[in-house]
Amino acid sequence: MTAALSYPPAGYKPVSFSVTTITELMIPSYANFGGKIHGGILLSLMDKVAYVCAAKHAGNYCVTASIDAVNFLAPVEVGDLVSLIASVNYVGKTSMVVGIKVISENVKASVVQHTNTSYFTMVAKDDQNKPAEVPGLILETQEQVRRFEEARKRKELKQSYGQEMQKIKAELDYDTCRETLAGERCWINL
Ligand SMILES: CC(C)(COP(=O)(O)OP(=O)(O)OC[C@H]1O[C@@H](n2cnc3c(N)ncnc32)[C@H](O)[C@@H]1OP(=O)(O)O)[C@@H](O)C(=O)NCCC(=O)NCCS
Repeated sequence: MTAALSYPPAGYKPVSFSVTTITELMIPSYANFGGKIHGGILLSLMDKVAYVCAAKHAGNYCVTASIDAVNFLAPVEVGDLVSLIASVNYVGKTSMVVGIKVISENVKASVVQHTNTSYFTMVAKDDQNKPAEVPGLILETQEQVRRFEEARKRKELKQSYGQEMQKIKAELDYDTCRETLAGERCWINL
């Protein structure tokens, strides 16, 4: 007996369809006073690669809705080559989570450093500027399955974090703050 063939639903796209890499040379005008590359330069490149990846998957114009955690693990130097590798890790109805890995490379010294990994939530927009449905995602490796589930869990955690933060904010009053800040390195001057 032959196993029944199964196909992805129509319109679904594989992760590989939109994988995007941008490599850019870090020129002196990108540096701060300390001679290292401005964090903002890297953020701008990350936003660019996230856009390209998301727009390819969506087949539509996209906007950045939120960014999850940008931790700079190592400084980037002038003359380094910075590569940003982006892939769609998760899709909802109109949103996509694009995972971005950033590496910097000193080609002369043959040193490659992982500078950060971040997750950009991008939303597709239609011609009326309304969120537009995006194609489903075809997962072709175990790593892609793991990333999809990780993104789903991150989304759930973000929702409960947001609710908890709202509760904390609503409960904060001046007298409680004065008490809890007693051991902190601040001076209340009022
Ligand atoms: C983000 C934005 C598209 C959401 O629009 P909205 O009308 O509130 O749409 P919805 O509530 O229907 O949400 C649409 C999708 O975005 C997701 N979303 C909305 N806000 C989000 C946020 N802060 N973080 C992550 N996802 C978000 C929703 O979960 C939903 O996903 P789904 O369809 O996959 O379930 C809208 O607020 C916007 O255009 N913001 C400005 C974006 C921009 O200009 N970015 C550049 C900044 S300089």
